[in-house]
Amino acid sequence: MAYMTALRVERAEQIAAGIHLFELRDPDGRELPEFNAGSHIAIVVPTGDVRKYSLCNDPCERDRYVIAVKKEAAGRGGSISLVDAVKAGDLVMSGTPENSFALDERAASFLFIAGGIGITPIMAMIRHLKSTGCGRFKLYYCTRNAHATAFLDELSAPAYRGQVTIHHDNGDPAQALDLWPLLERPAGAHLYCCGPRAMMEAVRDMTGHWSRSAVHFESFVDAAQTRTVEDHAFSVRLARTGEVVEVPANTSILEALRFSGHTVPSSCESGTCGTCKTRLVRGAADHRDLVLSEAERSEYIMVCVSRARSTEAELVIDR
Ligand code: FES
Repeated sequence: MAYMTALRVERAEQIAAGIHLFELRDPDGRELPEFNAGSHIAIVVPTGDVRKYSLCNDPCERDRYVIAVKKEAAGRGGSISLVDAVKAGDLVMSGTPENSFALDERAASFLFIAGGIGITPIMAMIRHLKSTGCGRFKLYYCTRNAHATAFLDELSAPAYRGQVTIHHDNGDPAQALDLWPLLERPAGAHLYCCGPRAMMEAVRDMTGHWSRSAVHFESFVDAAQTRTVEDHAFSVRLARTGEVVEVPANTSILEALRFSGHTVPSSCESGTCGTCKTRLVRGAADHRDLVLSEAERSEYIMVCVSRARSTEAELVIDR
C-alpha cells in the first residue's frame, strides 16, 4: 500500500442523494503529493478498513484532494462509516495517489461514460481537459434522477454545453441510455468508462471492435465483491514447477498465490487494469474481468478476480 499520512477534512457535505463530498488538506497547509487525472487514494475509514476513492478535483490543484463517497447500504460498511462518522476538522489517514485509470493524452478525442458514483475519476479528467484547453471530449453521465446526480450544477453549466449529456433512467432498465450509437464507430477516440458492473460489461460487450488499448475501465468493486455465494474451492497448478495451490471459496487466485509465498504483480485487484494478466495453459476459467477480449480468454486469465468454472476444473497457469 502507498505511504499513509494524516490529512485534515476541510469540508464534508452531501452533494446528491446518498453522495457525500470530502475535501482533504495537509494539516500544516503544505502542498500534497501530485496526482494525475484518474488517480485514487486509499483512506482508512472509521471501521479500520481501507477503501479506495477517486480524486475528482483538477490535478493542477496541489493544496487539496477531493473525493465523493456513495453511502452504500448494500456495502460492507466502510463508506457508511466514513459518511456517518467523519466531519470537518477530523483527521483521516490517506495514502498517496495511485493511478490505474490514467488518461492517455495522445488520444485524438475522448469519450467518457459514467454511471452513478463512477463520475468521480471522470470529473478529474474533464476538469483537467478543460483547464488545459482541450475540448475534444464528450461525457455521457447516467443517473437515476436529478437528486442522485453529483456535480449536476457544474455539468449543466454553459461551459460544458454540447459536451456533457446527463441521462436519467428513473431506475427503469427500459429507460437506460442506448450506448450502441455512441460505440458503433470508434473514430480514434479513447473510451473511459466507470460505473455499475452491468454498465461496464455492456460497454465491454459493445466495444469488441475497438482497439483494446483505447478502452479503459475503472471499478471500485474489490475482488471480494466479485465473488458470489455459489463460489467454490478449486486448485491451480503452476506449470513450471508442478506446485498445486488450493484456492478456497472466499479467496482469489491472486491471494492464494501470495499466501503460498509467490510474488504476483497487481494494481486494481478488480479485473479492470490488466496488471495481473497470467497465461492460462489449461483449464476452464470463469472469467470475471473487463480487460480480456473473447479471443484472449482461451489464453490468459486475470488472477485477481477470475476463477475455475467448477471444483473439478483445475486451472494450469504459466508460473
Ligand atoms: Fe488489475 Fe488484476 S490487478 S486486472
